Amino acid sequence: MNALPGQPHIHWRDGELHVEQVPVTQLAREHGTPLFVYSKASMLAALAAYRRGLEGRRARICYAMKANSSLGVLQVFAQAGCGFDIVSGGELARALAVGAKPHDIIFSGVGKTRAEMAQALQVGIGCFNVESEAELEVLDQVAGQQGRVAPVSIRVNPNVDAKTHPYISTGLKGNKFGIAHERTLHAYKRAASLKHLRVVGIDCHIGSQITDSGPYLDAMDRILDLVATIEAEGIRLQHIDFGGGLGIDYRGDRPPAADALWTELLRKLDARGFGDREILLEPGRSLVGNAGLCVSEVLYLKPGEQKNFCIVDAAMNDLPRPAMYEAWHGIEAAKPRSDAQPTTYDVVGPVCESGDWLGRERSLAVQPGDFIAVLSTGAYCMSMASNYNTRTRAAEVLVDGGRTHVIRERERVEDLLRNERLVD
Ligand code: LLP
Repeated sequence: MNALPGQPHIHWRDGELHVEQVPVTQLAREHGTPLFVYSKASMLAALAAYRRGLEGRRARICYAMKANSSLGVLQVFAQAGCGFDIVSGGELARALAVGAKPHDIIFSGVGKTRAEMAQALQVGIGCFNVESEAELEVLDQVAGQQGRVAPVSIRVNPNVDAKTHPYISTGLKGNKFGIAHERTLHAYKRAASLKHLRVVGIDCHIGSQITDSGPYLDAMDRILDLVATIEAEGIRLQHIDFGGGLGIDYRGDRPPAADALWTELLRKLDARGFGDREILLEPGRSLVGNAGLCVSEVLYLKPGEQKNFCIVDAAMNDLPRPAMYEAWHGIEAAKPRSDAQPTTYDVVGPVCESGDWLGRERSLAVQPGDFIAVLSTGAYCMSMASNYNTRTRAAEVLVDGGRTHVIRERERVEDLLRNERLVD
């Protein structure tokens, strides 16, 4: 068995790509394309790496469901004992739908509405990660109206450079996220003085697709300095939330493994005397990114003077990362042909935009009707999919050993038209 880099449960067998024990071409024929396929074992292995790193600690892993919020995916993590990091009332409803314990749900995001706060208070979520001083005041009011006390943690912007794509870097001064390092103590004093808030922790998240432990170590130092300052004022912090952000291997990227990273970070935490605190984490991409692929059918090959195009039935509405971030995803023929010469193509979708490309200058041996797999598409693909060009969203299946579960039916055009009205 010949596993793909970073994706031990996605491998070649008998000249065909398999997810766990199931051939990708078989899935494409049975369920149609575009089709997202996820490996359950891969998700659980990614989670296990975090757990190894945190062994013996009081720690909660709150899966950041924005990475992939399909119920079948959430169910895997809920059953494995994870909590959830949410950023909207909609995500709260998803967490509850898979039986998450409200205490293990934390609510992040810079723009929580009063209605979302009320909804989260009613079910008794574990913590609000507050991102501005104004939000503290509103949350206090909303909790007061319900006669409740809201558990809060303040998201600090530690002003460290996560050295990642500017659109997914969040811990720098110029970002909209968190409360500036210099204002943090002031915000904590205010929070502690408000009747309907209870300070429970501190929080930071510095960016996404981080491939080096350096920014994490810097952020930890800065957060621990703040913990010491805040506690010197008599405000006790029960938990420290280090956010998510750990990268995955898209194209020879070498992020630290979650267990190695956490062994290193815990060494610092202990050395600085904070080893007794409960640790919260909000990983998204690193739990699901490499567990998924998107299967698509080759529609046309279009040779050109400057470029050859391989036109497939998945597009930027299914896989927005290349168009949005110029992100690179591996692309493989699900069953490479021995009778076709590998040719260099730009792999593009049917959407009417030049930005609708999935990969540039890729060598593929394919013919129309063949299936390709776009790799590492478990995170930030389906959850960011749209209906642009009135394209229905793809189906999703979860593979568990030799079994396949449909976790999302392919959307139908009727679903799209349902909420629209003709003028009378
Ligand atoms: N916690 C907070 C507060 C976040 O904002 C995020 C991601 C996470 C946790 C999870 O981060 P992760 O472990 O997945 O890196 N759409 C972009 C990524 C946006 C990340 C937004 N925040 C992409 O496709 O690369």
